[in-house]
Amino acid sequence: MQTQTVSMDTIVSLAKRRGFVFQSSEIYGGWSAFWDYGPVGVELKRNIREAWWHDVVQRREEVVGLEAAIIMHPAVWRASGHLESFNDLLVDCRSCKQRFRADQLPGYEENVAEGRPDPLEGVPCPNCGARGQWTEPRPFNTMFRTHVGPVEDEASVAYLRPETAQAMFVQFQNVLTASRRKLPFGIAQIGRAFRNEITTGNFIFRMRELEQMELEYFVRPGEDEHWFDYWRSYTLEWFRSLGVRPERLRLRDHEKHALSHYSKATTDLEYEFPFGWGELWGVANRTDFDLKAHAAASGRELTYFDEETKSHVVPYVVEPALGVDRAFLVLLLDAYDEEPDKEGTRVVLRFHPRVAPVKVAVLPLSRKEPLTRTAREIRDRLAELYNVEYDETGSIGKRYRRQDEIGTPLCVTVDFQTQEDGAVTIRDRDTMAQDRVSIAELEGALRDKLGF
Ligand code: GAP
Repeated sequence: MQTQTVSMDTIVSLAKRRGFVFQSSEIYGGWSAFWDYGPVGVELKRNIREAWWHDVVQRREEVVGLEAAIIMHPAVWRASGHLESFNDLLVDCRSCKQRFRADQLPGYEENVAEGRPDPLEGVPCPNCGARGQWTEPRPFNTMFRTHVGPVEDEASVAYLRPETAQAMFVQFQNVLTASRRKLPFGIAQIGRAFRNEITTGNFIFRMRELEQMELEYFVRPGEDEHWFDYWRSYTLEWFRSLGVRPERLRLRDHEKHALSHYSKATTDLEYEFPFGWGELWGVANRTDFDLKAHAAASGRELTYFDEETKSHVVPYVVEPALGVDRAFLVLLLDAYDEEPDKEGTRVVLRFHPRVAPVKVAVLPLSRKEPLTRTAREIRDRLAELYNVEYDETGSIGKRYRRQDEIGTPLCVTVDFQTQEDGAVTIRDRDTMAQDRVSIAELEGALRDKLGF
């Protein structure tokens, strides 16, 4: 069982050392709020996407997928309200000249909730501590702008999408016609989104280029609250199913004043990060806001024909929206554990086998033939089933520790006895127990231990 809490510094350093996450453009000093995923990180990220896609899309008869272009027609963002409302409130401290997002200042949200005329009243600057030195808050649209085509004028302005969701509304009719689904049904997408965040930091928690896994779940008006509750609970269950400690997860309902421009109700699944509770997965009741807005702006009908009532309805939408990078951070933080051992401290990432970047490591006890030949044959066989790693360098103890630090659930060790008894040892990451298994039965034994 995991017992440890971990600091962000420890995680950032482990992430770099073991190849999970690197600073973007590091040799040029890094690039704020942009991050690159290394060899082990890409595997973890792929596993997160695949687990989500399998559970939310493929296992469910009523959910289908979509992969849309990142740069959509600018009219999309006008109709969706993003051009007008996708703003953060910017304030500067006159004393130290630092710039902040107003709603992230300590005490600001409480002042708004209490209805104070000046929500910045009494709010201290987190940098220099000055009070009452704030500039007038001004809206800052966080969509990245670019130009499409060779002429850079106002007519060619386009935006990098700040959420993947809009494509599901804009393509609603095409997907419905092609997939012939009945309400309730969902359209899901995984893809990059871009936000010119004002305040960044906390590693990959708040990025300017991020990845989202979003589901737009279309339901009959009147059934939206039932489905809102359903998806709210689902978020919690999903992370629990991946082994995340329940006491570090909670659902938090947004207060009315903090709702996005499109939302009737929003709940966040939050995780207790080392820097405090933070949003992991947002569930919003978007009502019929988006379909109606795009229908009005495009002049196209975006409705569902209800065979039962023989009438056209505009479905309501419940949207569970999860960041891949945030899920990655939570799984990494939550998996981290340390325990005393002979050499000092054993660092182990107790990933659920579904998301573990490497499922099995194959380790010959010595670098000599015939051990290495047998070990490589086993590696090749297992590579047909799982992401495996072969490692013959260093002492066996060091090699186990390396695998523990990237969270590999099982190690298969080929030793001097293997040539005689045709068997290998399977070492378990969490219990460190070792089982002797015949090579002929290895795949079955691994399947039993991993669960797939
Ligand atoms: N379509 C709704 C939407 O985008 P959101 O709450 O703004 O809602 C959904 O974003 C999820 O995307 C968040 O819960 C979080 O996991 C992730 N996310 C949002 N902004 C992010 C950022 N700057 N960096 C990393 N992840 C982010």
